[in-house]
Order: sequence, then C-alpha cells, then structure tokens
Amino acid sequence: MSALIIFDEQGRILEKIKEHNKIAEKLKSIGIRFEKWQTEKELPWSADQNEVIQTYKNDIDRINSEFGFKSIDVVSLTPDNPKKVELRNMFLSEHIHTDFEVRFFVDGSGTFYLHPDDKVYVVLCEKGDFISVPANTKHWFDMGNEPFFKAIRFFSTPDGWVANFTGSDISQKIPSHDEIVKMTKEDTTEIKEHTKKTKINKAKSVKKSETKKAKSAKKSIKNRKMKNSLKQEKTKRKIQIKQKTKIKKSKKKK
Ligand SMILES: [Fe+2]
Repeated sequence: MSALIIFDEQGRILEKIKEHNKIAEKLKSIGIRFEKWQTEKELPWSADQNEVIQTYKNDIDRINSEFGFKSIDVVSLTPDNPKKVELRNMFLSEHIHTDFEVRFFVDGSGTFYLHPDDKVYVVLCEKGDFISVPANTKHWFDMGNEPFFKAIRFFSTPDGWVANFTGSDISQKIPSHDEIVKMTKEDTTEIKEHTKKTKINKAKSVKKSETKKAKSAKKSIKNRKMKNSLKQEKTKRKIQIKQKTKIKKSKKKK
C-alpha cells in the first residue's frame, strides 16, 4: 500500500496520508508528480525490458512528450543480488541531481525521501506508482535490507543523474524503508481491526433493535388478545343480563 508520511527535521511524524489522490495532491504542492498507472495485463516478474515498455507505452509516451526525456531503461533488484548493500548505500544519504529523478514501479517497492523545505516527505512507492522528483530537489532513496523492485527510469541527459551529496546526516534521523513498510502495515492492520469492530458493533446494535421490535410486537399481540377477551366477556355478560330480564318480564306477565 502506497503511503506518504511527513516528518519534521528531528524525525517526528507530522502527518500520515494513505489515499493515493490525497498523496498526489500533497506532493503536487511541493512540485512532485505522483501518479497511479493502470494496466490491463498482469506482468510476470520474468517480463523483459521490451515487454515492460510495451505494456506501459501510452503512459511512457505521455510522460516523454510532457517532460522531454531522451531515454528510458528498466532496472530490477532482488534480495539475492550480491551487491545489494553496496547498491542500497549509493543513494542512502541526502543528495541532489541536475536532472529529474523519475521512476515508475513496475513491481515491488522502494521509499523516496524528499526534503524540499523544513519537512521530510517520505513516499512509500509500490507497484503501479509513478514519481517524478525535479532537478535540484534534496532527497534520498532506500530500497531496504531485502531489496525487491522493478522500475522504469527516465533520463533527459546521460550524465544528469550523478548524485551530488549535501553532506547532511538527516537521513539517519528518519525511519528506513523497512521501518516505513512496517509502520504502514501496522496502520493498515489497525484500520482493518477498527472496521471489523465497527461492523460487529453495528450487527449487535441491529440484532438488539430487532429483538426489541420483536418483544414489542409480542407485547402488542398479547394486549390485543386480552382486550378481545375482555370485550367478548363483556358482550357475553350483556347477553346474559338481557336474557335474565326477558325471563323476569315473561314471569311477571304470567
Ligand atoms: Fe537521487
């Protein structure tokens, strides 16, 4: 599940956003493009570069014509890669590029840390997420201890994607990709638990109300029966009185 968690520079959480459109809206306000790309075809992990590019051709063409990118490639990383630690450490400290850093996550996940002002915008990107970080935006990227992702990269210049490190240690104050994934999962579990509890309470309330209605209906039937019985008794008595009066009158006549 994609997520945006905003931290202050001391690593305190300021805001958490889970809804994709709200994440996109918030990131737009700091100049970051964030999109969800849909595909009708489910790509297997084994899909090669051509297959990936062909699958997302329409979105790739749209982005290329908008941003003027000159080339793209597809990279993938799995936990069995012998260079995973080295590769992770390459972009784990705050840096900038003179070119855009643009990624589309075909599969797996990774976390971008954007530091455009006095806050750090942590974007957990997952399968189907497109993110565009403009040139000279302070940021870093974490793929976690067990990297697993396949992504399309967009380039406008061959050497524009060289990292210029700022020398800041801020990346050490903000949770890692693995911690962000854990935090997001815990939140999702909490939300699910809350929804489950709400549903149970609602069902209990409906049952209670139905029992109350049934009891009330039963009581009403009982009352009606009693009324009818009293009425019948009254009518019976009246008839008896009438009969007795009639007998008396007939005796008198005699
Ligand atoms: Fe970068």
